[in-house]
Amino acid sequence: MGEALLDLGGGFWNIRGDFRVAGVVNVGTHASLVRLASGRFVFLDSYGLKGSLRDRVMALTEGGSAVEAILNLHPFHTLHCEAMHRDFPHAALYGSARHRQRLPDLPWAEAAVESATLAARYGEDLAFSLPAGIDYISADDRVHAGSLLAWHQASGTLHVDDTLNLMPVPRLLRGVLPPPRLFLHPTLPQALAPGPGAVRDFRAWVKGLAAQCADLRHLVVAHSGHRSFAPGDFSKALLAALRRISPRLERAEARRSTPAA
Ligand SMILES: [Fe+2]
Repeated sequence: MGEALLDLGGGFWNIRGDFRVAGVVNVGTHASLVRLASGRFVFLDSYGLKGSLRDRVMALTEGGSAVEAILNLHPFHTLHCEAMHRDFPHAALYGSARHRQRLPDLPWAEAAVESATLAARYGEDLAFSLPAGIDYISADDRVHAGSLLAWHQASGTLHVDDTLNLMPVPRLLRGVLPPPRLFLHPTLPQALAPGPGAVRDFRAWVKGLAAQCADLRHLVVAHSGHRSFAPGDFSKALLAALRRISPRLERAEARRSTPAA
């Protein structure tokens, strides 16, 4: 994997970062830099920038002074928030209730990242989407399926942390194998929201996302990289991924509604 800055056009850059589990296996992580219609910038998620990657981001953003906000979208991705705030101390800092709870010394803005306030503030440039039918912040911290997605119409890019994933393809085989397959997070069944109708609500949300992103050109995901799509292909791949995981979701919901003997 390794660090990289992908220029996806239309004022959208995806930062590919390193994330080593137990200090060994690099599963990668990401953040994105978005140029707003106003000419100012926001980050989607945080990453501790260094070396040439940091130099390039600083050059794009007038030494960081043009960055107005950092939007931390995934409640369980908290590792780089402090470093990013240190690098961009004047940018407003947004996160979920879990960010605030884990890092209480950072100057979090009052509005939560998933709030209607923030959606309205950045609605001209970004459309946020919170999956229905699953928990955004699971009580089980191993369940990372929930995350706030961000759709950037100007570049046709969808920024996703963990809800959607791409099957990793070894670098050497990339020219030979088909593009990496899209799949929904394996912990989705454990993330189902309480109460009836969770699977129905989740399905409706996926279908809505497929319609909203029908002309998607780029998908960027936290731990498995980037994939380009021809218009229409992302929606088909997303609905196919939904069909593949649906039996597991239905079984999980059925188990839950069967009273214990
Ligand atoms: Fe993650």
